[in-house]
Amino acid sequence: MHALLFERPVWFATGPLIIAEEAPEMEDFTYHQPVLARETIELLAPRPGTLIVDGTCGGAGHTELILEKGADVLGLDQDPDAINYATGRLSQFGGRVTLRQANFRNAAQVLDSLGVIGIGGALLDLGISSRQLETSDRGFSIMRNGPLDMRMDPRRELTAADIVNSYSEEDLTRIFRDLGEEPAARRIASQLVKQRKTVPFRETIQLAKAIEKIVWRHGRRHPATQVFQALRMEVNDELRALEDGLLALSMRLEPGARFAVIAFHSLEDRIVKNFFRDRSREFLDRPEWPEPRPNPDFQFTLVTSKPVEPSAEEQRENPRSRSAKLRVAERI
Ligand SMILES: C[S@@+](CC[C@H](N)C(=O)[O-])C[C@H]1O[C@@H](n2cnc3c(N)ncnc32)[C@H](O)[C@@H]1O
Repeated sequence: MHALLFERPVWFATGPLIIAEEAPEMEDFTYHQPVLARETIELLAPRPGTLIVDGTCGGAGHTELILEKGADVLGLDQDPDAINYATGRLSQFGGRVTLRQANFRNAAQVLDSLGVIGIGGALLDLGISSRQLETSDRGFSIMRNGPLDMRMDPRRELTAADIVNSYSEEDLTRIFRDLGEEPAARRIASQLVKQRKTVPFRETIQLAKAIEKIVWRHGRRHPATQVFQALRMEVNDELRALEDGLLALSMRLEPGARFAVIAFHSLEDRIVKNFFRDRSREFLDRPEWPEPRPNPDFQFTLVTSKPVEPSAEEQRENPRSRSAKLRVAERI
């Protein structure tokens, strides 16, 4: 049962139009609806008695499904709120699950601290959870006012407000362009630098409204969507953490163990695709070489040659799944 409790503006060509948003009642509140759940578990193929690292535990939806298949889990999340929630949700599994607040880029240190060398599989479900997006004081949402924060790990120092108020115009342009793929990056950066001299940016709606005025755009997406994405990725150093995490976890996979990664935008997906592709070639060839040479990084066979995407039904039921791409590789 759902109740119509909240209203939130949705962006249309004519400007913000208020539509009612279905808000879950407390008893069926879900922290996060796991994306591509059936496909992920099928392709990750967790085996009883093995240890799977879920590097992005979140609301523990995927973690629970892995545990139900009989594998043990080490669940990591850099957000302490996710670890608290997962601890409650997974209590029935007792000692079969270990949870740690940690960045998955540091998975090797966590495994070492537990005395674990090899693992039977790994999962990364990237980005933020619905809970993080919908909790206004985390500062991720364009639609809910809150401090311009965006830290998944509150122990980190740099917030989105620090970036908007202190980065140079060149650096803001670079992150809006490279991380947000924002075509008006330069214009937005230059205006924000001018405006912050009079009033610093402190809140999400304040920044969203300022961007609305700089780049009024047709379309369903709010004009600040790409800038918010760029800020979130910069605050959490998301692309470098992904590169580090792929490397750290792949080094620990036992032969036959699988690595599943769900990405939500093209920058992340490109990193995952190239990582698996570069490590699934047995030989390397170059025009200047007389013959192909063995690839020193050869590590994987591809389980998915093309990414798996959510069915039309899943996309209808969970619109946040729309951009998801799942890639899976198996350790040779
Ligand atoms: C999309 S949610 C995962 C949802 C989860 N699979 C489920 O079924 O509920 C992503 C989670 O990953 C966490 N996260 C993102 N980047 C991380 C990183 N580098 N290290 C650890 N956790 C990370 C976020 O805090 C968030 O809780």
